[in-house]
Amino acid sequence: MARIKDFIETTPFTKEELLKICDLSLTIKDAIRAGYYPQLLSNKTLGMIFQQSSTRTRVSFETAMEQLGGHAQYLAPGQIQLGGHETLEDTATVLSRLTDILMARVDRHEDVVGLARYATIPVINGMSDYNHPTQEMGDLITIIENLPAGKQLEDIRVTFVGDATQVCASLGMIITKMGAHFTHFGPEGYQLGENYQEILRANCAVSGGSFTITDDSDEGYRDADFVYTDVWYGLYDQERTAEEYTAVFMPKYQVTAESMRKAAPGAKFMHCLPASRGVEVTDEVLDAPYSVAFDEAGNRLTAMRGLLVYFMPPTTFDKEAAEAARLKLNSLLQ
Ligand code: CP
Repeated sequence: MARIKDFIETTPFTKEELLKICDLSLTIKDAIRAGYYPQLLSNKTLGMIFQQSSTRTRVSFETAMEQLGGHAQYLAPGQIQLGGHETLEDTATVLSRLTDILMARVDRHEDVVGLARYATIPVINGMSDYNHPTQEMGDLITIIENLPAGKQLEDIRVTFVGDATQVCASLGMIITKMGAHFTHFGPEGYQLGENYQEILRANCAVSGGSFTITDDSDEGYRDADFVYTDVWYGLYDQERTAEEYTAVFMPKYQVTAESMRKAAPGAKFMHCLPASRGVEVTDEVLDAPYSVAFDEAGNRLTAMRGLLVYFMPPTTFDKEAAEAARLKLNSLLQ
């Protein structure tokens, strides 16, 4: 079967394919930890389209390319013609001739879908208003590295606390894809919508996983091996103010040391970051020994390396044509 060209969402991929990318990512992580930097992306260029600010996504993509022998170009908001008078289609067509692979962080999900449709090279979604699949992969790797003793991936329970952000939706997608249990603990009106629940249901039908959506605190935290939260008021929230979110979410949905005690013994805390300290999570939790939020940020790099290697088109080498070009170049440079 032909490999899927783009990484826009995890839905079209099987559990086995996603775990293979994790395995690749973890193997490269081990290699680099041992001092061996496999030059798997030498002479390759990544174009990075950003319509928004980013720390983790930008730096991890750029570092991954550098470490594996390639190069990344940061195409910041307002620095390329896209968004001015050049269309998405023309941008995708041009960048397909200038780079080997693209990533895009976009305001509207349809833009990254459009880039993938028009580009002849692979496109990786670096976050949209719909989902955050590279975060999903870094989170899955972090969970694999922190599995509770005696538990397999399918045995775990992961609770997301707070607003139904694209990170919440993505976490639900990857956890149910793996056959585990996902809980969204959030207030009515801010819970995962039917469009996302449909995907989670389809995942569970294949994987044997399950999910719960609740506004009950005890049910939300019960037996959770991993407790995850994200900002309440993020990049894509235009309709409500930070004050409105605080009125709805504080204090019930703030992750505190007391709420962590309701989770399974030894539960880990996760956050995609950046965090609003003292808002959705207390300093005490974010900085606790059981917090893996900063390792999780480090695993964005782990995941980017594996994703880039997996999706990068292979280099084809025509020995005869290369030799003819070498000889002609030599003669031209005499
Ligand atoms: N978690 C995440 O995507 O971080 P950045 O916005 O800094 O890339």
